[in-house]
Amino acid sequence: MLKHHYTHFLNANQGVQHYACHSHHYWPDVSRQAMLDYWDDSARFVDDKWGYFFAEKVPRLQSHIAKLLNTNLPEQLVFAPNTHELLFRVISGMDLQSELTIVTTDSEFHSFTRQVNRLDEFNNIHVIKVPVQPVKSFQSRFMDAIEYNDPNLVFCSQVFFNSGLVLKDLDALVSAVKNPDTLIMIDGYHAFCALPVDIEKHRNRIFYLAGGYKYAQGGEGVCFMHVPKGYLNRPLYTGWYAEFGELQKFKSRKVDYATNGFHYAGSTMDYSGIYRQLAVFDLWQKEKVTVAVIHQHVQQLQQAFLNHVFGLKQSVLTESRLMMVNPENHGHFLTFELPDASITATLHDYLKAHKIETDYRGNRLRFGFAPYHAIADIDLSCLENYGG
Ligand SMILES: Cc1ncc(COP(=O)(O)O)c(C=O)c1O
Repeated sequence: MLKHHYTHFLNANQGVQHYACHSHHYWPDVSRQAMLDYWDDSARFVDDKWGYFFAEKVPRLQSHIAKLLNTNLPEQLVFAPNTHELLFRVISGMDLQSELTIVTTDSEFHSFTRQVNRLDEFNNIHVIKVPVQPVKSFQSRFMDAIEYNDPNLVFCSQVFFNSGLVLKDLDALVSAVKNPDTLIMIDGYHAFCALPVDIEKHRNRIFYLAGGYKYAQGGEGVCFMHVPKGYLNRPLYTGWYAEFGELQKFKSRKVDYATNGFHYAGSTMDYSGIYRQLAVFDLWQKEKVTVAVIHQHVQQLQQAFLNHVFGLKQSVLTESRLMMVNPENHGHFLTFELPDASITATLHDYLKAHKIETDYRGNRLRFGFAPYHAIADIDLSCLENYGG
């Protein structure tokens, strides 16, 4: 589809079928020039480069992302090198000495899971994890847990990292949170730039997290959070960028915060990711590439992949092991649940030896798809000789 934009990564990996793109996409060629531009601008502007970044680069990237989320609130976006930093900043603004309840799932990415497991060690913090399986009843069980526990924080992925399954109804979930003081945080990393996302209705209610390393193709170091106006707590974990632009004003020892998304900013970071991400979104704009078009392409790839694999004489990647309930509403990777972690690791290694890149989490093997894939490239015939 857009293969000609990825010549550097494709040439460096000839003969490889890269199905680990749910973890990290290849970077489009324009991102290489963006890295050089970052260097050149650093040389050109030296100390003044921060002013330039904040006047030129940050607002333009905010504007692209606000459009992709359909919020029309670019100023409510804040950047950080990773999502962990952002989510922990919000958590650190809660009253950690009071009784706190967090309702989440058993399928959140490690950044959040590890953090809440640690918080759960405190007697006053209660973490309720609703199992995603069986997925058909997940949404209603999750909403019941919210109603029953009246939590201080609800945290849920839009697409679950360990299956590709999708939270069915974000609107219903947000409506289920009746207490206006409850913070709602959606981890959109596996949805952003994969599935068409529209959070317009909830832009004043939810924190939305995502980043560039996966489907947005900007590489690592460029994560963001949409911050709902009116939900500005006072993060304990705060950096001086949270006062950026206001430093002249805040002369006292009182810790004050910006009133837009930068309320949750940290400190000095490497802005090359911002350059890369901006170059990718500018390219999409120029070429009229939309998430809907990418999504449709990936859906076709997934269907072709499944037809191919299920048509082979093999018994390891079977229909019954595929974790998918609705091909029309699924993340951009397919997950096969195998009997155990060791079988999964062996199969992963076998595929890797045949230049088929996948990844796995425990006993779940994942195959991701991207704009730089073509149906004609799909070839897993080596499975017919697999003895594992
Ligand atoms: C759902 C989800 N959230 C977040 C992340 C990344 O977390 P962080 O930005 O803290 O490294 C990943 C990475 O794979 C993920 O799958």
